[in-house]
Amino acid sequence: MRTTVGIIGAGPAGLLLARLLHDAGIDSVVLESRDRVYVEHRQRAGILEQGTVDVLRAAGAGERMDREGLRHDGMELRFARRRHRVDFPGLTGGRSVMVYAQTEVCKDLIALQLKEGGPLLFEAEALAVEGADGDRPRVRFRHQGREEVLECDYVAGCDGFWGVSRAAVPASLARVSERTYPFGWLGILAEVPPSHDELVYARHDRGFALLSMRSPSVSRLYLQVPADTDAAAWSDEEIWDELERRLETDDDWTLNRGPITQKSVTPMRSYVHEPMRHGRLFLAGDAAHIVPPTGAKGLNLAVGDVVTLARALTHEKETGSAELLDAYSATCLRRVWQAERFSYDMTTMLHRASDATSFDDGLQLAALDRIASSRAAGTDLAEGYTGFPIG
Ligand code: FAD
Ligand code: DHB
Repeated sequence: MRTTVGIIGAGPAGLLLARLLHDAGIDSVVLESRDRVYVEHRQRAGILEQGTVDVLRAAGAGERMDREGLRHDGMELRFARRRHRVDFPGLTGGRSVMVYAQTEVCKDLIALQLKEGGPLLFEAEALAVEGADGDRPRVRFRHQGREEVLECDYVAGCDGFWGVSRAAVPASLARVSERTYPFGWLGILAEVPPSHDELVYARHDRGFALLSMRSPSVSRLYLQVPADTDAAAWSDEEIWDELERRLETDDDWTLNRGPITQKSVTPMRSYVHEPMRHGRLFLAGDAAHIVPPTGAKGLNLAVGDVVTLARALTHEKETGSAELLDAYSATCLRRVWQAERFSYDMTTMLHRASDATSFDDGLQLAALDRIASSRAAGTDLAEGYTGFPIG
């Protein structure tokens, strides 16, 4: 099998890259280790930055998002039983975000790819990327019980944090920067209308809580828990009781409870692999970097990477110049580090370590109070949350 761009992974990064390349007249093959149902139902991110929304629309993948997604013009910070609204358009000159789940983005992109794109092979597991530093890179993969080879001009490693493509970069050429956190998020989906019409990020002495949503009738909520927590150890009632405590306010706000349909624990990590390119192999999305989920940046970073990569490959095709491909890693990393900083700051401001001192608490409350009382601090948060520019 032969193609111009071999794409490993059909998460948001791989699927969007295939679509953007298709629009530019560049052929690709997508290899995905899981089956279609699994990829379309894996619960993950829920917030699309303004730039991501614009890219999906321009790629022809915005129709259902515009119909069913919920545009959000603000979010609420909750601390010391107080509520503070951050007005996104007012502070950023008109930007907002969209609540539209990653599962739905993937469903839309898969449907488009199968209708008019190049091959997308499910249950096709990449085993290794070979010859990345030569002219003819190859992806060895297993499909329908047989080992096969995909020969390419370029390989895009979009196979997430646990994929194989990052391993094709020799360790001696890579720099890895990493931080793990002693806590994770217990996330639930519940069949109940959201208790607030915008997201609520809450700092509480008992730990962080987040109120989000998937639709007007489905809530998505998260609780900070110790990193090694087993989701099954929390009963539904315990989860609702804890959410209620951490989200409590001095006014008459109440939490709607309903049947919990899913619960799981997500670990939290910051991770950056530099460079994001080795020869003809380009890493994109979680394959190259991870952020803790507090800033809702993971999916949006993946989108920025593949937009930059598609632009560079198109430029090379149209002009013969590899200038943008050569700049790919540095261009992406600039935005990646901004998102790393933003996600780390939000995580640190809102989560409570088990050994937190009154000094740590004081700093957190001062940071939140600053956002609530200074337009400059509010603007900094709103600009970061609605997204750093791509490219
Ligand atoms: P992925 O979505 O991980 O896609 C990679 C794809 O590659 C997968 O389909 C995988 O099956 C496939 N693959 C892996 N190995 C191979 C192989 N060898 N061969 C072929 N295919 C392979 N972000 C937020 O902003 N908010 C959240 O609430 C949030 N929750 C998350 C929860 C979890 C459990 C995880 C893991 C991530 C979460 N994220 C969240 C991050 C966000 O979902 C990711 O940043 C986003 O999915 C990145 O997209 P991607 O395409 O780079 O990687
Ligand atoms: C969601 C996830 C996030 O990480 C976040 O910061 C906001 C919302 C969500 O899944 O809805």
